[in-house]
Amino acid sequence: MGAGIRILAAALLALAAVRGATAQLRQGYYSASCPNVEAIVQAAVALTMATRDVIGLAGGPAYPVELGRLDGLVSTASNVDGNLPPPSFNLDQLTAMFAANNLSQADMIALSAAHTVGFAHCGTFTGRIQTAAVDPTMDPGYASQLLAACPAGVDPNVALEIDPVTPHAFDNQYFINLQKGMGLLTSDQVLYADLRSRPTVDAWAANSSDFEAAFVAAMTNLGRVGVKTDPALGNIRRDCAVLNS
Ligand code: HEM
Repeated sequence: MGAGIRILAAALLALAAVRGATAQLRQGYYSASCPNVEAIVQAAVALTMATRDVIGLAGGPAYPVELGRLDGLVSTASNVDGNLPPPSFNLDQLTAMFAANNLSQADMIALSAAHTVGFAHCGTFTGRIQTAAVDPTMDPGYASQLLAACPAGVDPNVALEIDPVTPHAFDNQYFINLQKGMGLLTSDQVLYADLRSRPTVDAWAANSSDFEAAFVAAMTNLGRVGVKTDPALGNIRRDCAVLNS
C-alpha cells in the first residue's frame, strides 16, 4: 500500500502543480452517459477517486469527488520539477507555493496531515538529525530514535513511517505529534514551530471533526486545481498510464 499511496500522492501533487482553467466539475458527471467510466479508463479521475478510497479505507473522512476532468496531453517528469514543495520548505515558502495554486494556508495545513499515513526516506529528514546540533524544534528522544534507524551511511532505500504513533490510521494524530516535536519533515514541524500556523495545529489536534471538515474542503479545492475540461487541451486515456497514440 505504501507504493500505491506514494504514486497517488505524487500524482495528486503533480495534478496540483499544473495550473490551468478551473471549470465545470460536478458530481455524477458520467452517471447518465457511461456509468463506471471514471474508475475504468480515465487516469486523472481514477486517481482522485482512488485517493478518496485509500483515505476512507484508512479510517479518514468520506467525501464526494467532483468529476469531469480530462487527462492531459503531455506528461513528463520535468514538468514536476519546481512545482512540488521540498521537505525543507518553511511556512512562507509552503504558503506561497500552495497560494500559487489557489490553495489557502489552512488548505496547506490540512493537506499536510495526509502525512498521517505513509513513509519518508531517511534522506528527506537526515539533515535535521545527522548534524552536530539536532534541529531544536524536534523532540530529542524522537531524534535519537530516528538517528538509530537512519545513521550516517544508511541504505538510501530505508524509509520510516511519517506518523510513528498511528501510522496506519488516517486521523488527527499528525497534529498531536507536531505539538510534541514529532513532526518528521521540516515542512511538517514548521507548522507548529511557526507561531502564525500553530493555532491551527492546536485547534485540529484538539478537534478531529474540525480537522476532517477542513481536510475534505481542502481536498475539494485541490481537486479543482489545473482541471482540464476543454477537449483541445485534454482527452480520456484508453490506458491510464499511457498517452493515447
Ligand atoms: C506541504 C508540503 C508537502 C511536502 C513538503 C511533502 C513532502 C513529502 C516527502 C518528502 C515525502 C517522503 C517521500 C519519500 O521519501 O518517498 C512525503 C510523503 C508523502 N506525502 Fe507529502 N508533502 C507535502 C504535502 C503533501 C500533500 C498535500 C499530500 C496529499 C494530500 C501528501 C501526501 C503524502 C503521502 C501519502 C506520503 C507517503 C508516501 C509513501 O508512503 O510512499 N503530502 N511527502
